[in-house]
Amino acid sequence: MSGIQSIKGMVALVTGGASGLGRGVVDRLIREGAKGVVALDRNHEGSKYNDPNVLPITASVTEEEEVKKALDACKEKFGRLDAVVNCAGVGIARRTYDFRKNLAHSMDEFQLVIEINLVGSFNVSRLAAGLIGANEPVNGLRGVIINTASVAAFDGQIGQIAYSASKGGIVSMTLPMARDFAPHGIRVMTIAPGLFDTPLLAALPEPARKALAATVPCPARLGHVDEYAHLVQSIIENPMLNGEVIRLDGALRMQP
Ligand SMILES: NC(=O)c1ccc[n+]([C@@H]2O[C@H](COP(=O)([O-])OP(=O)(O)OC[C@H]3O[C@@H](n4cnc5c(N)ncnc54)[C@H](O)[C@@H]3O)[C@@H](O)[C@H]2O)c1
Repeated sequence: MSGIQSIKGMVALVTGGASGLGRGVVDRLIREGAKGVVALDRNHEGSKYNDPNVLPITASVTEEEEVKKALDACKEKFGRLDAVVNCAGVGIARRTYDFRKNLAHSMDEFQLVIEINLVGSFNVSRLAAGLIGANEPVNGLRGVIINTASVAAFDGQIGQIAYSASKGGIVSMTLPMARDFAPHGIRVMTIAPGLFDTPLLAALPEPARKALAATVPCPARLGHVDEYAHLVQSIIENPMLNGEVIRLDGALRMQP
């Protein structure tokens, strides 16, 4: 089986690949025999990759030219691209209107979150499709794009207005993008994670982390990054998964 439906020999580009879920994906794909993985991130400080098959690239998902350069570098070093995993993302906590301070949500902050999470995922997907589309099809398939939403797309909490809107956009892009690419053999899937143990949550004090973990029904803990990466692997390997959003959350339903 070629890299299009198997990790062995495949080439992937992972955004947000320096940290958290993205880093977990980079590590798992390499461990499972990928030929090459481009780890695209705007901040590679402290991210050491000991494998020569990882190509770290410093770029922002929002910048067309930087993403194009990353794709060119991928083609030059590895000769192809089979999968994109969009993990780059940011979050903020702001209410739509803060009645204690008489202050409306900043437009700049709202737009920044939409720009990175939603527009950034779209930007990378649309540009990467050209390179994936150049693959010779295997059983009619050329590759796959996997986006990362969040359960906040469905049960957004107080203060998650910008984050939820950005993730809801990613959910809504899934089917039309899968339909756009269907004639060209490129699948599109979205994962909506619940609570995962990444640097994002590591910044919280231990009691807060414990309280969050206890809100997950079963298993009652934070998810491990490799459990997210495992689902990425399953999506790459299973050709019938397309145009759908999978919650990966231990039955968590976030409270207001
Ligand atoms: N950790 C969780 O519990 C959780 C839950 C649901 C969804 N998610 C989503 O998963 C994704 C990964 O989150 P994480 O927890 O691993 O966070 P993280 O902060 O550990 O990693 C995110 C990475 O994205 C990079 N990044 C941010 N903006 C970028 C840009 N413009 N261009 C390129 N890279 C950029 C950061 O530098 C960082 O390395 C995010 O989209 C997040 O919203 C995380």
